[in-house]
Amino acid sequence: MQDRNIALLGFMGTGKSTVAQILAQRLGRSVLEMDAVLEQRAGKPISAIFAAEGEPYFRQMERTLIQELAQQRGLVISCGGGVVLNPENVRDLSATGLVVCLTAAPEIILHRVAAATHRPLLEGGDKAKKILELLAKRQPLYDAVPHRIDTSTRTPAEIADLILALFSQPAPAARKN
Ligand code: S3P
Repeated sequence: MQDRNIALLGFMGTGKSTVAQILAQRLGRSVLEMDAVLEQRAGKPISAIFAAEGEPYFRQMERTLIQELAQQRGLVISCGGGVVLNPENVRDLSATGLVVCLTAAPEIILHRVAAATHRPLLEGGDKAKKILELLAKRQPLYDAVPHRIDTSTRTPAEIADLILALFSQPAPAARKN
């Protein structure tokens, strides 16, 4: 079995963590949950990092972690939803692994994140409005990821099957430039 990484991208509430767990189980790997690693490094929850240090600081933490992960192999990486904001993150993850962007309809995302309070970008106001605004800004970035899977009406196991089918195909040759 190949040792390429699998990295799941996508907006909050698209199912990255759940699907990553299934993939890891099927491949006999463990999941690397980026947000959990960053919380551990900072010694505080994501919302506290945003509040104390600000979003640019958090994005730099993400960037540093991606650079480290892109040196490793055999990982199933569940990325934070904002990883696409820096195209270099997507480029680095793609260089050493299969990158798949999970998507979902805005109303499904709202339903999935409604009860949670740990996502600073969705707190303090109308969640539905925040989701639509953020999605509108980021849509071109998510759309630019070659492999995308809509999770709105599929079960996590079905999504994992689709990703494993992609993963079983040979990796594209590395680009020279
Ligand atoms: C964020 C998504 C979150 C977390 C942070 C910012 C984003 O991760 O990294 O709250 O900018 O979309 P999840 O997508 O795992 O919720």
